Amino acid sequence: MPPHPGDQLELEITTLAYGGQGVARVDEFVLFVRGAVPGDRVLAKVTRRKKSYGEARMVELLSPSSRRIAPVCGHAADCGGCEWQTLSYESQLEFKQQQVVESLTRLGHLEGYELEPIRGMDDPWRYRNKMEFSFGEAEDGALLLGLHRRGSWQDIIETTDCMLASARMNRARAAVAAASRELGLRPFGREHHHGLLRHLVVREGLASGDLLLNLFVSARFPEEKEFAGRVAADCGCSSFGVTVNATPADAAVGDGPHMLLGEPYLRERLAGVDLQVPATAFLQTNSRMCEVLYDTALRFAGAEPSRPAIDLYCGIGSLSLPLAQRARQVQAVEIQEEAIAAALENAALNDVANVDFYAHDVRPLLRFPPHPTLDAERANEADRPAVVLVDPPRAGMARKALQRAAALGADRFAYVSCNPTTLAGNGAQLAELGYRLERVAPIDMFPQTHHIETVALFRRQS
Ligand SMILES: C[S@@+](CC[C@H](N)C(=O)[O-])C[C@H]1O[C@@H](n2cnc3c(N)ncnc32)[C@H](O)[C@@H]1O
Repeated sequence: MPPHPGDQLELEITTLAYGGQGVARVDEFVLFVRGAVPGDRVLAKVTRRKKSYGEARMVELLSPSSRRIAPVCGHAADCGGCEWQTLSYESQLEFKQQQVVESLTRLGHLEGYELEPIRGMDDPWRYRNKMEFSFGEAEDGALLLGLHRRGSWQDIIETTDCMLASARMNRARAAVAAASRELGLRPFGREHHHGLLRHLVVREGLASGDLLLNLFVSARFPEEKEFAGRVAADCGCSSFGVTVNATPADAAVGDGPHMLLGEPYLRERLAGVDLQVPATAFLQTNSRMCEVLYDTALRFAGAEPSRPAIDLYCGIGSLSLPLAQRARQVQAVEIQEEAIAAALENAALNDVANVDFYAHDVRPLLRFPPHPTLDAERANEADRPAVVLVDPPRAGMARKALQRAAALGADRFAYVSCNPTTLAGNGAQLAELGYRLERVAPIDMFPQTHHIETVALFRRQS
């Protein structure tokens, strides 16, 4: 009999599911247990039951797994981040590689490819180049600035030393918290919707040393220049802007940034290319591992100097530009206009002239192609791309977009994925469309968390 909600059971955790929960089996019924790792024996209370699986909460750790280690971070007990830090880094890498293979096999029925061993970090801490902190209020009314308490959308804990952020980024958080308190500014209440301060986004350029702060507020405020000056004097940031979010939505979005100090972008150098990254544009969040990621993506893409290439979901052009340095011509597509404006600037900055950027949704663009390389009905074989490189968001590519991209007839399809489950789905569709999965390289861009990055190479079967 499958267990019922409320039942308490002793469970052996056998593996980790994608998403990071421990997996236990009661007969053939699968239970997902948050916070448990393989090798643990736990007492758990069933909280939810669906037809084929259930969820349980760990009540007591009866016997810990040998893979468990003591958490390194002082905030581990309260903070909602770094949920895998109780698992040795070796085990994290092992499970991530296993989850990529399992997703490809189970969801995509994909086998017979070369698997490159997962690439991890020598020092898997302080790797994030972007942090989003939130303002909150303690029970005694004191202002807080930090990350969300585990499992809570409204409670904030003061993360004085987040171990995913650099010392400079943590100092920037402390400087903003101190200036807020000294000037008597109040956090925006998630329930009552009064107050000023909402979020702080800190971004750091690894190559440039730039430090950009973007303060999200409910309205512009009279002390903002003084605020920026105090913070810059305290933490040495190179840019400071304010962005206004006057809506109830609890997210770091809004009108801005209105710059009070420095430039509205961050400078970075990746894959041998100089980049200007606008304050709100996407950039891979781990600059050190991004070099490994881009190196792998470019190796799999195998662009040829005599042939065109395509980069779909190109962001600010960080892969399009090194791809263009290796190809005859690149057609690059991205939906965000601001990112395309930055991509054009970045092309000029690096003297790359053989790339065309389109600010457009991929799917409709491929329906009305603006260039023969993007046109499946092209007249000239010389316009057929050697490779289509794609780096879609977590949801993967919509079936129609993938069909149109595959119809372009490229020799290779290089797929950069931040979600192995959607990679598996798209991989199965590519197989139906005549592309065989040839090579897979998992890369650990997100140590201490369950997130996985993978690069996959598909080759067209003639
Ligand atoms: C994972 S990021 C990759 C960006 C870039 N390749 C990089 O490494 O920085 C995905 C990008 O796809 C863009 N995007 C999302 N949906 C899109 C769509 N339907 N059409 C075109 N671009 C889209 C996002 O704005 C984002 O810049």
